[in-house]
Amino acid sequence: MDKVAYLQTWGCQMNVHDTEKIAGVLRHEGYAFTDNPEDAALIILNTCSIREKAEHKFLSRLGYFKRLKRKRPTLQVAVSGCIAQQEGEKFLIDNQFVDFTFGPQNIVKLPELISKGKRKASVEENPALPDTELPAIRDGGARAWVNIMYGCNNFCSYCVVPYTRGRERSRPMDSIIGEIRALADEGYKEVTLLGQNVNSYKDPKEGPNSSFPQLLNRVNAIQGIKRIRFITSHPKDLSPELISAIGALDKLCKHIHLPLQSGSTVILSAMNRKYSYKGYMEKITALRQHIPGVAITSDIIAGFPGETGQDHEQTLAALGEIEFDGVFAFKYSKRRNTRASEMEGQIDEDTKAERLRNILELQDIITEKINHRLNGRNVEILVEGQSSSDPNTWTGRTGTNKIVNFIPEGQITKGMLITVNVTNAFRHSLEGRIAG
Ligand code: 5AD
Ligand code: SF4
Repeated sequence: MDKVAYLQTWGCQMNVHDTEKIAGVLRHEGYAFTDNPEDAALIILNTCSIREKAEHKFLSRLGYFKRLKRKRPTLQVAVSGCIAQQEGEKFLIDNQFVDFTFGPQNIVKLPELISKGKRKASVEENPALPDTELPAIRDGGARAWVNIMYGCNNFCSYCVVPYTRGRERSRPMDSIIGEIRALADEGYKEVTLLGQNVNSYKDPKEGPNSSFPQLLNRVNAIQGIKRIRFITSHPKDLSPELISAIGALDKLCKHIHLPLQSGSTVILSAMNRKYSYKGYMEKITALRQHIPGVAITSDIIAGFPGETGQDHEQTLAALGEIEFDGVFAFKYSKRRNTRASEMEGQIDEDTKAERLRNILELQDIITEKINHRLNGRNVEILVEGQSSSDPNTWTGRTGTNKIVNFIPEGQITKGMLITVNVTNAFRHSLEGRIAG
């Protein structure tokens, strides 16, 4: 059981990629990996605190690891990610079986934390984070994730991210380009640039060509990379230059995730989103004007404090007017330290659940309608490999981020761009036949 690690991740893509870096650091230290916690000498639990549900999923699993540690006291159990960052020392006090914790800024400290064997919460600010290049173990598929910036300065009143991931800091452009070139050499075909708010990317070296559209231009020129995506965009920072770049750069996928959160300007203001519904609609109009066929997805929060029935109706009307390709919708969840958690007018769980249901039901109809329009059409997909549910079926994705399942023929390999004819459209996926 020497140097074998078990890793488990909760939460967003940022966390999934953080786990890839944790794995990279551990491999450098000579660790191998297991899918079975019973075989591990080191367990790292990478946590999420964006909503209560995510936190609860982790906490309900914690008892299992406590029992493992009791059975085998030499086992090291560590907790990382947003819960570790937010709770600091308190987490170690409340959970005596946990050996150490570290926040998203301190993955680099992992070797030291393991070897010192001291009970420590490594949650200090790490000013060197944007300049730290950590090895990552990626899944070896066709798609890779790359951080371009860390943290967030927006302080939306419901959101815990600025407290867990700290202030916004961009990575130097040359180091991002270097990482993507290396990924292309390894055979990755698609990169997703990751940041809480990618539109405010700025090369810390501050040259004249230092902003996000310039970064996209440089990534677009990397040989071997066929597709570029990015998440997440904040509507207030979606610039005309970025809209032009999405329209003009051939490798940039014609899809944007643009969280609306609410269709009511009063609620948007209470959320500290810094745009009105009208302002958001202007961005949607510009996107559709400059990028024909662009897919737009969004996030919506149901039952924010003070949200009236009328505000909720405005969100439903917005969904009908905009017709997003897809939406992630959540019940508002009260988070420690955030301004919204102190606001008057907190909404009861039943009302939140009912509003969420209304949103999802309406959006399902819209998503299905949009997907049905693709029936009979030819679409280009990047082949991702065998489907996890059916080994005879393969799966790929359109530039607009729709999953297409198909029966492979001939020399199909992961990472190829192929054309398929859509033969069936469902709510969450499409079925197709290889065209030509
Ligand atoms: N409650 C509900 N949803 C939230 N989100 C962030 N914080 C909260 C919260 N406290 C949602 C937002 C954001 C997405 C990543 O998670 O919609 O865009
Ligand atoms: Fe949270 Fe708002 Fe920052 Fe997104 S932009 S991470 S919702 S504070």
